[in-house]
Amino acid sequence: MTAPTALKHYLQFADFSADEYAYLLDRAALIKRKFKAYEKHHTLHDRTLAMIFEKASTRTRVSFEAGMYQLGGSVVYLTSGDSQLGRNEPIEDTARVISRMTDIVMIRTFEQARIERFAEYSRVPVINGLTNEYHPCQILADLFTYREHRGDIRGKTVAWVGDGNNMANTWAQAATLLGFNLHVSAPQGYEVNEQLAAIKGHRHGAPAWKNFANPRAACEGADLVTTDVWTSMGYEAENKVRKEAFASWCVDTDMMQAAKPDALFMHCLPAHRGEEVAADVIDGPQSVVWDEAENRMHVQKALLEYLLLGRLS
Ligand code: CP
Ligand code: NVA
Repeated sequence: MTAPTALKHYLQFADFSADEYAYLLDRAALIKRKFKAYEKHHTLHDRTLAMIFEKASTRTRVSFEAGMYQLGGSVVYLTSGDSQLGRNEPIEDTARVISRMTDIVMIRTFEQARIERFAEYSRVPVINGLTNEYHPCQILADLFTYREHRGDIRGKTVAWVGDGNNMANTWAQAATLLGFNLHVSAPQGYEVNEQLAAIKGHRHGAPAWKNFANPRAACEGADLVTTDVWTSMGYEAENKVRKEAFASWCVDTDMMQAAKPDALFMHCLPAHRGEEVAADVIDGPQSVVWDEAENRMHVQKALLEYLLLGRLS
């Protein structure tokens, strides 16, 4: 058994350094190669991952669950509906109990403050599987996918078209930390929140993103165009108002033509064709959304290993 490393959580993108991301992407590439070759890779033999979902999921659940089994471990799946969380057991008590019986925890929940409280009372590493504010595991997969298709993202331009949501905040943190440009175009009132997107104390200081009123202008010269649903989970009551506000923020072929000819298109999924993205873009030749979804599993396997065992190669 490998000696335990110091307790480390992954609650937002800013929790790791550029050097740690370089390691994780390399490690994910090795793990993916072994997976494709049907080679056994049981680095987390006998370890248990608890997964707590307070919002719906397809990709996050399957990628963490399948990934953990592939690493030789096992998983416990909980939702608020079928656990005492749904009957108001305090998150602090839940954290103390679950972290005595499992080795690592992944949570998908509402406010970032809730996962931070859980982490404060947890004896084991905690991973953010999406909060209202951030979705770091998804951006990790997106960066890995970009690297597979186009190489290093440093100095490149990513265009974000749509809601200044958890994905947008996380892209902004990644741009600051990893040195690429982020063009953001969101309707008025839905812009990226500067405080959430900033990385406190980061030496670059100024935000690494630029706002554009016009979504097509944001796509000009971009190496990657990306978007997300107009209404994120937890905001369903605003759906009608949002549909009107976001009507011009649909990534279509015209926007893709403003980007570089070899620009990629990404979407974390689930997608709504005809809303935030046109069907011929998401189903077209520049789209890498299926690689992006698959890569969630490979990068998260690297993340699980890293949080439990530290650097292995
Ligand atoms: N992209 C993503 O997190 O998908 P799920 O909501 O299906 O987990
Ligand atoms: N922004 C979306 C992402 C879903 C994976 C949401 O929070 O619902």
